[in-house]
Amino acid sequence: MLQDSEILAKLMQRQMGYSLEQDFYTDAGVFDLDLRSVFYREWLFAIPTCEIPKPGNYVTHKVGDYGVIIVRGQDGEIRAFHNACRHRGSVVCKAKKGTAPKLVCPYHQWTYELDGSLLWARDMGPDFDASKHGLRSVHCRELAGLVYICLAAEAPDFDAFAAMAEPYLAPHDLGNAKVAYESSIIENGNWKLVWENNRECYHCAGNHPSLCRTYPEDPAVTGVSDGSTPPVLQQHFDRVEAGGIPARFQIDQGGQFRVARMPLLDGAVSYTMNGKEAVTKKLGRVPFADAGPLLQFHYPTTWNHFLPDHSIVFRVTPISPTETEVTTKWLVHKDAEEGVDYDLQRLTEVWMHTNDEDRIVVEDNQQGINSPAYTPGPYSPTHESGVIQFVDWYTAQLTRTMTGRTLVAAE
Ligand code: FES
Ligand SMILES: [Fe+2]
Repeated sequence: MLQDSEILAKLMQRQMGYSLEQDFYTDAGVFDLDLRSVFYREWLFAIPTCEIPKPGNYVTHKVGDYGVIIVRGQDGEIRAFHNACRHRGSVVCKAKKGTAPKLVCPYHQWTYELDGSLLWARDMGPDFDASKHGLRSVHCRELAGLVYICLAAEAPDFDAFAAMAEPYLAPHDLGNAKVAYESSIIENGNWKLVWENNRECYHCAGNHPSLCRTYPEDPAVTGVSDGSTPPVLQQHFDRVEAGGIPARFQIDQGGQFRVARMPLLDGAVSYTMNGKEAVTKKLGRVPFADAGPLLQFHYPTTWNHFLPDHSIVFRVTPISPTETEVTTKWLVHKDAEEGVDYDLQRLTEVWMHTNDEDRIVVEDNQQGINSPAYTPGPYSPTHESGVIQFVDWYTAQLTRTMTGRTLVAAE
């Protein structure tokens, strides 16, 4: 298990434009540093707000060692708390999701209000101060129907992301959504391999027959990571923006998040096997059926596809050095009826296939990296600029948290 100083030394020697050394995908010390430097510091996508529409609705989520409760209060506010009782520390909410008028610890029944304050604790003596024993809060922000949390004592800025993403998300009206389907899979691969795979489509033609019916894998259409915008893409951005919704590619300076409304293949409007819409009762007010998906990512936990008829949100949760949970939720209009406005199989099949195909390539990638014979290999500048961008963000994040400075590795 590597120490932080050893990991830092390896980062300093890293060959730019190459995949990382084996330890970054396998070592328990690196995994622990990833949690401390990335997952315990940054804003993390947790759930869509539509999962907890009513007061008392809650979900629980685990990130590394932290258990979190996300609950809607009587006042309609969504809040997040550490899922650890202020008596002797028991988990308070055991279910993955539920509805409760109060949060009651199963051990000795300390009872908390939905705003985290302690309401009742039996026989704690005359000096006991209930006001000092509320559930500990976790930072929580709602953004256009998406809930983000941050486990750090002091949360980094969220406003820059919100300012960039909110105008893009607003037309999708996620506050009026419901979850039509949810899938959680464990990929036997390091969380960074999950991301590296997500950030390129070099693998798409060879692995994603269903997705490639509608999604262009050609970097001449999608390759904007080098800062240039191919003419066909610029035309798409201009046409959609003339209709009144933002489309053009934007990435933040630190490279942590990006938005862009990308075109699908000619004639396709949604991720279905025939490219036609998946839901007749649309979620949102995107003015063109063929506006394409809004692709948003926010490291380290989420990439998303917001379409004119429905939306798909993805959440990445590291489990161990070689295991990662990927949760996918298909969101439709809250009044859309299954069997009437959409067929669940048709709605979900492309990304059910795609997720499983991605799981296989990520697991194969991990298996090969586990071999002592593995050495870092070069990324394709044409097809894998997104992977380079992700790895550069990750390595900068680690060096910044360890040294307080952004250090640049040797070319
Ligand atoms: S640990 Fe929760 S009531 Fe005792
Ligand atoms: Fe893929």
